[in-house]
Amino acid sequence: MAKVRITETVLRDGHQSLLATRMRLSQMMPQLKALDEIGYKSIEAWGGATFDSCLRFLGEDPWERLDILKANLKTPIQMLLRGQNILGYNHYADDVVRAFVRKAAEHGIGVFRIFDALNDPRNLKTAIDAAIESKKHVDHEVEVQGCLVYTIGGPHNTKEFAKLAKVLEDMGVDSICIKDMSGLLKPYTAYELVKDLKAETKLPIQLHTHYTSGFGSMAYLKAIEAGVDVIDCALSPFSLDTSQPCTETMVASLEGTEYDTGLDRKAMTPIAKYFLGVKQEIIKEFGLKGYFDVNPNVIDFQIPGGMLSNLVNQLKEQGMEDKYQDLLDEMPRVRADAGYPPLVTPSSQIVGTMATMNVMTGERYKMVPNEFKDLVRGKFGRTPVPVKQELLDKLKIKPEDVITDRPADHIPAGMDAFRAELAAKGYPNATEEDVLSYALFPQVAEEFFKQRTVKKLAELGRPNATDEDVLLYNLNPEIAEKFFKG
Ligand code: CO
Repeated sequence: MAKVRITETVLRDGHQSLLATRMRLSQMMPQLKALDEIGYKSIEAWGGATFDSCLRFLGEDPWERLDILKANLKTPIQMLLRGQNILGYNHYADDVVRAFVRKAAEHGIGVFRIFDALNDPRNLKTAIDAAIESKKHVDHEVEVQGCLVYTIGGPHNTKEFAKLAKVLEDMGVDSICIKDMSGLLKPYTAYELVKDLKAETKLPIQLHTHYTSGFGSMAYLKAIEAGVDVIDCALSPFSLDTSQPCTETMVASLEGTEYDTGLDRKAMTPIAKYFLGVKQEIIKEFGLKGYFDVNPNVIDFQIPGGMLSNLVNQLKEQGMEDKYQDLLDEMPRVRADAGYPPLVTPSSQIVGTMATMNVMTGERYKMVPNEFKDLVRGKFGRTPVPVKQELLDKLKIKPEDVITDRPADHIPAGMDAFRAELAAKGYPNATEEDVLSYALFPQVAEEFFKQRTVKKLAELGRPNATDEDVLLYNLNPEIAEKFFKG
């Protein structure tokens, strides 16, 4: 019996972290059978940025990608779901969240990993309930996994995270994921955290980290010693840097110990070799760098490296490079004022921009972006500790502007409206999947639908289709088909 199990991330987080989510389905296909035979606990392959990337850059329908993955994988397919934000950064109405989760389950998702950037359980509730409900409607097993978005500073400590795990357990999740998206989890803290979680809940604990700070495999090893059940790893070419620890290394490290994964490391070698080639293809096609330097200082700034370099560039453009240290000092102060939000997109950008403006104007909160006002007035949810009243006063936020109930309670049902909008744009026959794609990424989805029709018309012998041709086909595909063929 394997003591530690592995979730493979090469098909999602691996290429999202290193190669801007540019891996195509066609590049995954040749190895699906081999990946399926390894015996992973699950394969993460959908959600996160893959949906947007499919529509925006790769000309792929994300729903079709999922169908094909499902047809080729018996191993459960895991997706990353941003709670009430689904796959974006805005809150959606409950009916949109429910429709999305239901369709994702129907198309083959076996593990819903659900998180909220602020760790506000109210933002997870609808998605968790919908994922639990989906179990009744599909033939395959569905696991509902609730996330603790890991962060440090302020009120955050292992005991508080254990309490949050208990809340998730009471909401009915099947397992808990420690989601350490910035690689902040140090080895001995990982040990303590897993111990505290295990004391609070009987649920399986899975650990997800990024190598950003260089702690990755040390954190995994200590978490394993503390009894963690599953770790997220990426095959070697898509591991380390800002991605996950390496699958083969972790498997080899545990071989012959009481934690042995039981996986055949040698069977991974040809798969890894193949994906190294894919990595080189993607780097070439999209002109990407493909690697990132280790950044141990991330535990002090608590913000992702790419984000930091953007802020430094903003300073440079203003001729204020000398304010760099001021910016690093200001960041944690702004975060504390704003109630210690975990710094993950979009809160990392919002806090980072606010800190930069404070430094550039030389006066704190003189110029305040609306997004920062929204964050502190509760529009994204409840911050880990209340925002300082002083700050609310300074920003002239009135008590009636503060949102204390669940943000999504202020959003009217959306599916019918999105369907009507799409019909008005010339897509009266849009499927539920298309409506969902449109709800999430309106402009990108519309352009994708258009190109999809153009491609179909070309196949029908109508190259260089005009907008009218596209409209005709969308309104009545059968008539259009006869017309263009005749
Ligand atoms: Co990740």
